[in-house]
Amino acid sequence: MLTGKIAIVTGASRGIGRAIAETFARAGASVVICGRKQETLDRVAAEMGGAPGAILPLACHVGRADDVRRMVEETHRAFGKVDILVNNAGTNVAWGPALEIDEERFDKMIEINLKSAFRLIQAVAPGMCRRSSGSIVNIASIAGLRPLANSMVYNVTKAALIMMTQSYALELGPKGVRVNAIAPGFVETALSEHYWKGEDRRVKLVEQQPIRHLGQPGEVAEMALLLASDRGSYITGQTMVVDGGRLIS
Ligand SMILES: NC(=O)c1ccc[n+]([C@@H]2O[C@H](COP(=O)([O-])OP(=O)(O)OC[C@H]3O[C@@H](n4cnc5c(N)ncnc54)[C@H](OP(=O)(O)O)[C@@H]3O)[C@@H](O)[C@H]2O)c1
Repeated sequence: MLTGKIAIVTGASRGIGRAIAETFARAGASVVICGRKQETLDRVAAEMGGAPGAILPLACHVGRADDVRRMVEETHRAFGKVDILVNNAGTNVAWGPALEIDEERFDKMIEINLKSAFRLIQAVAPGMCRRSSGSIVNIASIAGLRPLANSMVYNVTKAALIMMTQSYALELGPKGVRVNAIAPGFVETALSEHYWKGEDRRVKLVEQQPIRHLGQPGEVAEMALLLASDRGSYITGQTMVVDGGRLIS
């Protein structure tokens, strides 16, 4: 499905990003995996070995403009182009009551969850537009559609990412580039551990949704594959909810 395609997946050292990178590589793409630590990425790349697509581990703190620039340059040096960009790296360092959040954490959240996507799109989309071909997938959250308690800034960054997705989709569609978002519900990763760790919490959480299991990273990756590949050729500007039916319950 992705043979010959070059993808960058941010935050691919674990969780949803890693599952997306693995799924893309299995589908034949060459994938640049990014995270903050080279050592971790090297280990992950070695574990992914054997997929049809090549894996290139490149350390990059997505909140740092120089890191982003270097990663995109190295990707071009290695592969000559970028066909698919997945803005997945995200954090929730501002978890807690809204009135206790200071400006430093507010700014950090904007930098990592939102501005990083802007920086990366600005860096890779011009090449996609020149080739009239590309797919950008932003990993938002159902928290960007309906607020999660004690996560005010997280909610704001994800809602803004959804609007960023729609705005770029409008302008880049005529140039052959599709831009979509995925809004996962609760997925079993380190980021959401607080909500599901422990049998009681886990049972309570899944009983609140029609699909009675906690989302797995691979279930989000399947949606990313659809959006990244030509099978999603008529889809742009959308926010695909992958939440086990949580939002409708
Ligand atoms: N899990 C859920 O329930 C859920 C639900 C909705 C949306 N999401 C979204 O899905 C995305 C992935 O989350 P996850 O659940 O897979 O979280 P995770 O397991 O904590 O993984 C986060 C990834 O982001 C990377 N990362 C964090 N800060 C970074 C930075 N400054 N620069 C580069 N990479 C950075 C981490 O790598 P290093 O630590 O190695 O740098 C890691 O690979 C996030 O955008 C999150 O908001 C998750």
